[in-house]
Amino acid sequence: MSFDSSDRTSVPRRTVLGGAGAAAAVAALAACGASTDTAGDPPQAQPPTTTAPPGPDAQVVAAVADVPVGGGVLIEGKRLVLTQPAEGDFCAFLALCTHQGCNITSVEGDTIVCACHGSKFALDGSVLQGPAKRPLKSQPVEARGTDLVVG
Ligand code: FES
Repeated sequence: MSFDSSDRTSVPRRTVLGGAGAAAAVAALAACGASTDTAGDPPQAQPPTTTAPPGPDAQVVAAVADVPVGGGVLIEGKRLVLTQPAEGDFCAFLALCTHQGCNITSVEGDTIVCACHGSKFALDGSVLQGPAKRPLKSQPVEARGTDLVVG
């Protein structure tokens, strides 16, 4: 039995590419925050995982242009915080602090702030400063053309 030289090189190449694709998918999934049920756990150093894409009942909540790269906006009427940690990477969170449920107060630069007791969150929803110990609860979000859709 003999092998053609192209057969011997094609299998490892596919294996490598498949591995790189899987790594990229994992990186993309780790980009934004998600809900957790870990009440009482210590602050998390790792950002939470991304939720599923918006469903059929998703709503347009803002324009892509409303959310600065490396920052975010508070949409009080929708009780949402929208962020864009990197260009084209959008996150959405319920604007409720995970400490004691106060409304998120503002987004200051790259920090989401709850003024009730001083908790601060990163653009991926993870805790930067307590007393909150859990990340913000994420919502599925997607850019569709010039619109940001959440739901
Ligand atoms: Fe936000 Fe306490 S409710 S810091």
